[in-house]
Amino acid sequence: MSKILSASELSAARDALAAKGRRLVFTNGCFDILHAGHVRYLRQARELGDALAVGLNGDGSVRALKGPGRPVNGEADRAEVLAALECVDYVTIFPGERITALARAVRPHVYAKGGDYTVESLNPEEAAALREGGSEIRILPLVPGRSTTAILKRSAVRLGVLGSGKGSNFAAIQREIEQGRLRAETAVVLSDVEAAPILDLARERGIKAVFVPPGRFRTKLEPEAENAIVEILKEAKVDLVVLAGFMRMLKEPMLAAFPRRIINIHPSLLPKFPGMEAWKQALASGESVTGCTVHYVDAGMDSGEIIAQREVPILPGDTAETLHARIQAQEHALYPEVLSKLAHAAL
Ligand code: GAR
Repeated sequence: MSKILSASELSAARDALAAKGRRLVFTNGCFDILHAGHVRYLRQARELGDALAVGLNGDGSVRALKGPGRPVNGEADRAEVLAALECVDYVTIFPGERITALARAVRPHVYAKGGDYTVESLNPEEAAALREGGSEIRILPLVPGRSTTAILKRSAVRLGVLGSGKGSNFAAIQREIEQGRLRAETAVVLSDVEAAPILDLARERGIKAVFVPPGRFRTKLEPEAENAIVEILKEAKVDLVVLAGFMRMLKEPMLAAFPRRIINIHPSLLPKFPGMEAWKQALASGESVTGCTVHYVDAGMDSGEIIAQREVPILPGDTAETLHARIQAQEHALYPEVLSKLAHAAL
């Protein structure tokens, strides 16, 4: 008989156990990438009674709880893997974020939960439904250092960010990473400007931040500086180099070291208005629409293959500042979105 049951089948299984004087233990979770921490936890839960049922969060609720990059594995696969464990007797997939309805239907003898919770911090509705059904609530210790989030972090795409200025694009990327919507990790932030706020933003977040003196040129790096940057990025095991307001052109050592692995964001609809202060160029041109572009970096100025663009209308009465602010708002959405697609393709 399959171990994967509907809620009503599980309720019947509970009654059959109770009729023989046996106790059903119930727990729930996402179990997205099964690891040793899960297995040890489930074995302990099974020891609290005579059979163990796992309520598995459906795909929609994992997305709502953990962000759009999750689940990594769909609910049917997650259920199959769980059901293959010796210590798991039943699996049931449930749709919402809460187990309230399932707890009412199943009335487990024991409810087990991982030690990131306390009896008090359980959702009050869930706790009430469990108590009504006569469930004993048990909190089990979690295995330190073993979590799906930590495992995913190890397999995240490693970014090396280069910026010369205030770093608002970097901050937008970090926000998406921190909120679990972008599976990436910034390994290092580099700047050619010693006082650039982007370096402070990195330090505040505990990310390695390095100033590399650029040398005597204005629009490119001294070869020594560029070699130093390549070395730092390689040492940080960077997969993708992200230019976020980096105001110098890159040359051979960088381009050869990271082929098709360097991307840039530019505040215009390229190929229109490459170069400095592109929003001012767009405003002066009398165009009615401009925008922003993410592109691969080649040896030219803002000339590499275009990956994605967003349009921004130029409004009557726009100043350079108001237009740039609206372009930047679009940049902050576009850059993480492109990174998410590239990160997915790379994994
Ligand atoms: C951004 O608007 C970016 O498009 C532009 O510099 C700004 C950096 O802002 N980049 C270029 O013009 C590249 N040619 P930020 O430091 O707040 O992210």
